[in-house]
Amino acid sequence: MSTNIRKIGVVGTGVIGASWSALFLARGFDVVATDPAPGAEKALREYVANAWPAMETLGAVVPGGSQARLTFRTDIHGIADVDFVQENGPERLEFKHKLYQQLDTLLPPDVIIATSSSGLTMTDIQQGCEHHPERCLVGHPFNPPHLIPLVELVAGKRTAAEAIDRADVFYSALGKKTIRLKKEVPGHVANRLQGVLVREIMSLVSEGVVSVADADAACSWGPGLRWGVMGPVVLNHLGGGVGGIEHFYDQFAGPLVTWWTPLGDFEFTKEVREKMIAGLKEEVGSRDFRDLASERDRLLLTLLKTRLAELPKH
Ligand SMILES: NC(=O)c1ccc[n+]([C@@H]2O[C@H](COP(=O)([O-])OP(=O)(O)OC[C@H]3O[C@@H](n4cnc5c(N)ncnc54)[C@H](O)[C@@H]3O)[C@@H](O)[C@H]2O)c1
Repeated sequence: MSTNIRKIGVVGTGVIGASWSALFLARGFDVVATDPAPGAEKALREYVANAWPAMETLGAVVPGGSQARLTFRTDIHGIADVDFVQENGPERLEFKHKLYQQLDTLLPPDVIIATSSSGLTMTDIQQGCEHHPERCLVGHPFNPPHLIPLVELVAGKRTAAEAIDRADVFYSALGKKTIRLKKEVPGHVANRLQGVLVREIMSLVSEGVVSVADADAACSWGPGLRWGVMGPVVLNHLGGGVGGIEHFYDQFAGPLVTWWTPLGDFEFTKEVREKMIAGLKEEVGSRDFRDLASERDRLLLTLLKTRLAELPKH
């Protein structure tokens, strides 16, 4: 399936829109970005320039990929001639309604409008579209989208299956790993999975079982290393040895179910919040944001080089 996409409109160039812009440019697309905030163009161009070396290291910059293909417009009408829109505006439903009303009127009906929204559903967002809600969908990335491959595709009640197919072809050709949700749920899938894990960490810390630093180490030096290469269900299958998942369930389902019992009546209280913050400060000590972020990115690039080599080439 050809998508015939050459020029991409990026609406909203904050944390997520700037990172998407960097990726689209690296992959050889023309990008027309729009954001009404004062200083938005300067911040965007700086973000893209800073993101470029990491994408070069990953081999994500194709011949023809260039920062010079970025155009910035303060007025949203400046994106009227794009072939695909990635929308990254503020996460407020009434704002998205007004924005989708504008975009729906401005753009030809075959132009897909994908929202990066983490928490809103497309069924709610597309209520803003009077003409062509069928081309609107969720294309939810992970921060920063110029590095993390996952994109969750979700249709709203009025989204056409064909729009999801076209978006899937487009994102896959960009080098993204897509998954499709069969129905809408708040937070989509990956954020819900992260949410459950974080809840359990808070519960274990607040019950005095473990420190924040050791809970983090339990993830990043243990199962987290495996999760970076295979999902938990396949790993359970391997945990069953040659007997596979059936043997794993025979042996471990009993104890596993008992671990689901809550340790107490867990709530995210002020005390839990304070305990988590104090534990985190003890864990990171005097290391500042830049120091931690650069360590994360250095290690992430090494891992990504290996993982991206295994994604199918389109
Ligand atoms: N931050 C994350 O980790 C993350 C991850 C995945 C998805 N998302 C989603 O991405 C979207 C953007 O989040 P963010 O963190 O980048 O927010 P942000 O606040 O950093 O950026 C939002 C941008 O939208 C701009 N904006 C406001 N009105 C606009 C308009 N009328 N037209 C165009 N732009 C306008 C703002 O000036 C701002 O630059 C949200 O829907 C969020 O749920 C965020």
